[in-house]
Amino acid sequence: MAFSSSEDLLAFVSNAVPGFEPTGAIQALSGGNLNYVWRVFGEEQSLIVKQAPPYIAQAPDIPLSPQRILIEAAALRLFAKPPLQDIISGHLRPPGLIYTDEKNYALILEDVGNLKSLDIHPATGQRLGTNLGVFIGQLHRVTFQDEAIAKAIDNPQIQQSRLEVQYAQARRILTGFGASNAAELGDKAEQLGEKYLTKGKCLIMGDLWPRSVLIGPKEGQARIIDWEFAHFGRPAQDVAHFLAHLWMLQHCAESMEKKRRFRQLQHAFVTSYRAALGPKMPLIFDEEETEDAGVHFGAEILARTIGSFQNGYLYEGLDHSHPKIKEAVHVAVLHLA
Ligand SMILES: Nc1ncnc2c1ncn2[C@@H]1O[C@H](COP(=O)(O)OP(=O)(O)OP(=O)(O)O)[C@@H](O)[C@H]1O
Ligand SMILES: [Mg+2]
Repeated sequence: MAFSSSEDLLAFVSNAVPGFEPTGAIQALSGGNLNYVWRVFGEEQSLIVKQAPPYIAQAPDIPLSPQRILIEAAALRLFAKPPLQDIISGHLRPPGLIYTDEKNYALILEDVGNLKSLDIHPATGQRLGTNLGVFIGQLHRVTFQDEAIAKAIDNPQIQQSRLEVQYAQARRILTGFGASNAAELGDKAEQLGEKYLTKGKCLIMGDLWPRSVLIGPKEGQARIIDWEFAHFGRPAQDVAHFLAHLWMLQHCAESMEKKRRFRQLQHAFVTSYRAALGPKMPLIFDEEETEDAGVHFGAEILARTIGSFQNGYLYEGLDHSHPKIKEAVHVAVLHLA
């Protein structure tokens, strides 16, 4: 960790943000795995410090380039000027970037508050779905074929990791599950991962899952955090990722009411996303994109149910014979095919 003590961390923030007067209180924030994240309390406001070690913070034996935090900074910086400045509002926006320490791979971010993420917030629904669809649709539309943004957010490393830990694993995990067409589906997933190494057509958030969506502060509003996977890529990777998670949230919802809310959110998201693409819709989300969306949708469900990312999420601890796992893998296989 770059900060050897609380004093170190407080000194860093005080030096970086003139006028910030720390109270001395610091809270280590859980919820993330890759980085260290703290809330630093001040006399008037609190701030968030996020620091990337050259490994996975929760698994120090797994190396990971700390450059990821500079990608997050570069993505957040884009929202301070057109065209992305024009798509943010009180309804939906990322946190503001306050300071970047490139040497120590640390960021200071606006504290958007102690908000619950989409998977655990009790009140989600149509308005939020609409606002999210508009935001992601506009993100894809206004950055479509924008060469300057493609240069600013060059993040092939993340797509290489995704190829290795997600797409190229599909064959192995489907074989272990006993799927008859594991080789064929595995090839499709791997080919998609390889396609995603190449330059895409718009800026994508890259990690659009429920824990990146903090709900509030007011009804229908959200703050999108954690932009380290941002990439000049393909829109299906955002859309299918989010839809796979909305499917899993419905599948695992503990009440009919919760399930209904997630379904409402999903419908509103899809409708407003399409509308936000406007006349560019056939260019941005063509037939190829729709087909790829199916493959990513399936690959994400596999990763969260029988793949590397089962722990700490909805299907944690369930084995291959569990009906929930069987149902989810069945749906994943249908989409991959
Ligand atoms: N700007 C912010 N304002 C308020 N809370 C925040 C902010 N950024 C992060 N948090 C809190 O800290 C937690 C961890 O942050 P974040 O998801 O960015 O970390 P991470 O290590 O990159 O996570 P992951 O392992 O999922 O990539 C979040 O779940 C959220 O609760
Ligand atoms: Mg992250």
